[in-house]
Amino acid sequence: MLQNINPVTTNAWRKLEQHYTIMKDNHMIDMFAVDPSRFSKFSLQFEEILFDFSKNIINDQTLETLLELANEAQLKDAIEQMFSGDKINLRENRAVLHIALRNRSNEPIYEDGEDVMPEINHVLEQIKIFSDKVISGQWLGYTGKPITHIVNIGIGGSDLGPYMVTEALKPYQKPHLQVHFVSNIDGTHIVETLKQVDSETTLFMIASKTFTTQETMTNAETAKSWFLEHAPSAAEVAKHFVAISTNLKAVKEFGIAEENMFVFWDWVGGRYSLWSSIGLSIACAIGYENYIQLLEGAHTMDKHFRMTHFEKNIPVLLALISIWYINFFGAQTEAILPYDQYMHRFPAYFQQGNMESNGKSVDRNGDRVTYQTGPVIWGEPGTNGQHAFYQLIHQGTQIIPCDFLAPAISHNPTGDHHVKLLSNFFAQTEALMNGKTLQEVIEELKNEGLNEDEIKELAPVKVFSGNKPTNSILFKILDPRTLGSLIAMYEHKIFVQGVIWNIFSFDQWGVELGKQLAKKVLPELQNTEEVTSHDSSTNGLINAYKNMCNQ
Ligand code: F6P
Repeated sequence: MLQNINPVTTNAWRKLEQHYTIMKDNHMIDMFAVDPSRFSKFSLQFEEILFDFSKNIINDQTLETLLELANEAQLKDAIEQMFSGDKINLRENRAVLHIALRNRSNEPIYEDGEDVMPEINHVLEQIKIFSDKVISGQWLGYTGKPITHIVNIGIGGSDLGPYMVTEALKPYQKPHLQVHFVSNIDGTHIVETLKQVDSETTLFMIASKTFTTQETMTNAETAKSWFLEHAPSAAEVAKHFVAISTNLKAVKEFGIAEENMFVFWDWVGGRYSLWSSIGLSIACAIGYENYIQLLEGAHTMDKHFRMTHFEKNIPVLLALISIWYINFFGAQTEAILPYDQYMHRFPAYFQQGNMESNGKSVDRNGDRVTYQTGPVIWGEPGTNGQHAFYQLIHQGTQIIPCDFLAPAISHNPTGDHHVKLLSNFFAQTEALMNGKTLQEVIEELKNEGLNEDEIKELAPVKVFSGNKPTNSILFKILDPRTLGSLIAMYEHKIFVQGVIWNIFSFDQWGVELGKQLAKKVLPELQNTEEVTSHDSSTNGLINAYKNMCNQ
């Protein structure tokens, strides 16, 4: 069982509070000036990934004390518990074993005394056979034609992971297969997708851990009805629908045969499930070998996370530095800024990964926490973000720690696009750190020929306080292995933070209330009676909606 340690009662926390009073006025520029080895000291290489955390408001003492915090929170023990299959998802009484899904060493991992690896390997083999058949054109639709379109129907972890990865690895995509993702219950999503596909050559993957999720089941039923309008008989469903789920009974009831089902297990959290058969669409899009490379990349990061001393452990350092800002500087959000168009869903993926895991306000004791937990995660690919929200990061009133990610080599080396992109990547973190003083602004304006009055008016708004913290994550090329490592790196960051904040990161009770209420509201929308059972705002809105529909 995970220890139950309130972080604010630790010695390290108290020391960090003290230390903050000194560090808050330290400027990174000065720290760089006095320590020429700062970059080599505060950066780490992992395979083809360079992690530079030197542009943070930290010094040796900060790191030392943050590492003490990790030790006092019994982090080492928590990591071992996860890797050993202990039921660390206590409120759902489940182990947390996404690391087993990518355990390429194949060493046994036990859950309830049973090695989970044989089952995992069996499903991997099933994925291999199936994806090979689809890619090679052996899997035929009801008119004997090979598959050209895959439509993954899922939501949350059953959508975001495979969608993010297939977008990120598009350069590896089989050119004769197009992959679509339908998640939203808004009918527009499925309708617009069905317009792009042909029933004879489309394979639907119904991806849902529970196979009860309203959005997914509604979209799946719509897809099935559409398919049956075209296909000669219901028997053809077997050639065009497969299920990915833990719920065999519901899969069968939907009309998908057991042999067309890819299983996974309750010890795989939804937002950690892309490594399970939920990744079937990934394997079909990029091929099984590439899919395995993705798992390999994650596995190497898992080994790094489990075996490396915390002072050189990338996910641990990422987590601790983030805690430094959230709990001591009062940061409320973090931005993930990939300078790679293919990674455009990466921030959204970790919005779920992070916010569904650590958006908690009750600790492992059942008490309300008295400190900040999970931040708001957001971001867009650079340079789009630069022309949208960077203004606030540079000159707003909030501290927003940012992760900048970029590949050294582009998959599309067109003209000078990539070098321009990277010049922005390097310039932004430098600008965020350096800022621009009033004196510098005045000099600049003088050189531009402005008079004293003009300078007086303009100078204050052109000042950048700088000292804005960033991590830079530079990698050689966005290939499956590197992507796997990057995803696992952030997963483990989230885990470390959950351990230190003394919360349970692997349940998500906060999504339930809205779902329950929607179930109550739905029948009220399906009759013509006036609704009076809610507060006056909700009643007013529902009744207005009904009137609008009936006019
Ligand atoms: O949003 C809640 C949630 O349970 C997520 O954790 C999960 O990824 C998503 O719904 C989808 O669930 P399922 O795979 O069971 O359809």
